[in-house]
Amino acid sequence: MEFSKRLDLFGEEIFSSLNDKKVELERQGRTLYNLSVGTPDFQAAPHIKQALIDAAADQDNWKYSLRDIPEMQQAVVDYYARRYGVKDLTREMVMSCNGSQEGMGHIFMALCNPGDLVLLPDPGYPVFTAGTLLGEATPWYYPLKAEHDFLPCVKEIPADIAQKAKAMVVSLPANPVGSVGTPQVYNEIIAWAKENDVLIIHDNAYSDIIFDGVVGGSFLSYPGAREVGVEFFSLSKSFNVTGARISFLVGRPDVVAAVHKLRSQIDFGMFLCLQKVAIAALTGPTDMVKTQCQEYQARRDALCGGLRSLGWNVPDSKGSMFVWAKIPEGYPSSMEFCLELMDRTGVICTPGNSFGPHGEGYVRFALVLPVEKIQAAVSAIGNSGLLG
Ligand SMILES: Cc1ncc(COP(=O)(O)O)c(C=O)c1O
Repeated sequence: MEFSKRLDLFGEEIFSSLNDKKVELERQGRTLYNLSVGTPDFQAAPHIKQALIDAAADQDNWKYSLRDIPEMQQAVVDYYARRYGVKDLTREMVMSCNGSQEGMGHIFMALCNPGDLVLLPDPGYPVFTAGTLLGEATPWYYPLKAEHDFLPCVKEIPADIAQKAKAMVVSLPANPVGSVGTPQVYNEIIAWAKENDVLIIHDNAYSDIIFDGVVGGSFLSYPGAREVGVEFFSLSKSFNVTGARISFLVGRPDVVAAVHKLRSQIDFGMFLCLQKVAIAALTGPTDMVKTQCQEYQARRDALCGGLRSLGWNVPDSKGSMFVWAKIPEGYPSSMEFCLELMDRTGVICTPGNSFGPHGEGYVRFALVLPVEKIQAAVSAIGNSGLLG
């Protein structure tokens, strides 16, 4: 059978050699430190789990939901006011998605026509490209460079590209590079977007994982943001509910309505039990979110500080659950370094080029193991002699 040409847009799985090595080392009984996948190892809070148990006992919650229930939309509106200081959202500005991944995968189908230009970060989270291509739009990558603290620099986007661009994805705190937005960067982006009539799609997956006393916020809290943009607001990482697939598209009502029109053709609404889970998370206590951020910071310190003490100059990540490290001299590619690192130390990380060409020469570590295990991983690297 000849399958859709659309599938040809997506490359082959580049991780197979890493996977093969991992399986081989596991067979040998080697100790592995898997810092490759960004799945949190923390627990969801008890009141969130209880909400699911209670909701599941009620047969009415097993029907098609067909819509976002007003209580859930209101919970998002109130959370934005309380947590982010974004005060005058309305329920029409809020729509659920089955995770930001799904939302980002579909949004460009609602926004773009073939050939429209969408600006994406490089390195960046892979679904940005996949969604753009599914929407038959054309990606144009803006680099996240070390000299700009891995932040978007709209001044460097050529004028003709800015004129042609339909949308721009901004994702801060950033996966994989661990940079965090500043008011200056957001204000520049908003002014640029207004001037060039570009829709900003802000992916806010890590607003609760920000270090060194900085408080994470929302793109929509900046003046003018609501006229130029929307934000994906995911509960996955803040509340450790990655498998539940709960996220929201929030912001400009015309954009939310367009994406809703598309999604309502292919989806009968979020499972009502999950809508109850979302309400519990958004209206309940959030002290665990703060404690867990401190733990992520301790892990960041253990990894970055530990690697620096071995002579590998890895800067502190500012936010997200990732550390972005330039590979040591002498390795021809990120992939070769990852394979060698795994072989000699049991530490597994992700080659930077899997996030885009500007990721070549870097690797990404996910802070998904407790401090003691990260310290053991650092010791394994030290003992291996890999760093000379
Ligand atoms: C930048 C970014 N956006 C979105 C997601 C996916 O979020 P969700 O679980 O809501 O689909 C991730 C997950 O790793 C991510 O790193």
